[in-house]
Amino acid sequence: MSETRRPRICEVAPRDGFQSIARPLPTDDKIAIIRDLVAAGCQRVEIGSFVSPKAIPQMGDMAQIAEAVRDLPARLCALVPNVRGAENAVAAGVAEVCYVFSVSEAHNRNNVRQSVEHSLEGLANVAAALPENVLLRVDVATAFDCPFDGTVPLDQVLAAVARVADIAPEAEIALCDTTGRANPFAVRDRFRAAMALPGTARNTWAFHGHDTFGQGVANALAAWDAGVSDFDTAAAGLGGCPFAPGATGNTATEDLVFAFNEGGLDTGIDMERLLAVADRIAALPGGVTGSHLRSVPRERAI
Ligand code: COA
Ligand code: ZN
Repeated sequence: MSETRRPRICEVAPRDGFQSIARPLPTDDKIAIIRDLVAAGCQRVEIGSFVSPKAIPQMGDMAQIAEAVRDLPARLCALVPNVRGAENAVAAGVAEVCYVFSVSEAHNRNNVRQSVEHSLEGLANVAAALPENVLLRVDVATAFDCPFDGTVPLDQVLAAVARVADIAPEAEIALCDTTGRANPFAVRDRFRAAMALPGTARNTWAFHGHDTFGQGVANALAAWDAGVSDFDTAAAGLGGCPFAPGATGNTATEDLVFAFNEGGLDTGIDMERLLAVADRIAALPGGVTGSHLRSVPRERAI
């Protein structure tokens, strides 16, 4: 049977990647990289986060960035932890807002300084505050593993997803492998179970994965097999969650695009141009990268 779905990549280096570089990058460099990612064919980009500058000083220039990339022919989204972030994102013209919370109490408290219950109340407030034309995405972090508590029980994840679907029945729900400790079997099974919940019938799905244990591409393909079409990746594999000790970067965009290309599935991304941007990202001072494709002879990669 031929595959009629097309995989869609959301490029998250400007958010998950740039936040991992301790010394904030110059705003103009961030803007140039976002523009070049779109020029390389990235049709969806997480351009950063509207968060407390005390928590993540690297994102202190979000309003400027949003203003400078607003004209780009791509879906632009921004991560938010609360209503204030959502309002700031909307005021800056961002059309897709990604609300983040973690299934595990320990990671949620570490990351957004509140209980999971409080975060779910926050989701309801964000959903109510968003204008109708703004897409709501919910990043369900630590949906597999928590850096503090280890494996997060499936029941706990499904209960959280059911609550999300109840509050936001049409939101895009991303199960996030925050620590990169998931395996393809768990990814497939958890997506299947979440998608089978009666309350999630109208939700759409995404997978956000890190490559810390070398499972990133395999995990994404397991999600694809479960019916997920949207994937977060970062060019050059830049990143690492500042609140998940030991987590390395997101799965490298070029590695996942390569896998899809080899399977005859077009993501719309031009590999040669993407690798050129990935090289520039890898050269940023202070960044930790982790791409396979950048290491092979270039003529074999494109
Ligand atoms: N944008 C800008 N500033 C914000 C903000 C937002 N979305 N939300 C809160 N603030 C400000 C507050 O006004 C306050 O400033 P002040 O100290 O000058 O008065 C400060 O940040 C702390 O606010 P408070 O409501 O007390 O929150 P907190 O200290 O409990 O922190 C979060 C909670 C969620 C705001 C903060 O932890 C955060 O932004 N985390 C982001 C985490 C993240 O991005 N992780 C990586 C991605 S998974
Ligand atoms: Zn991440």
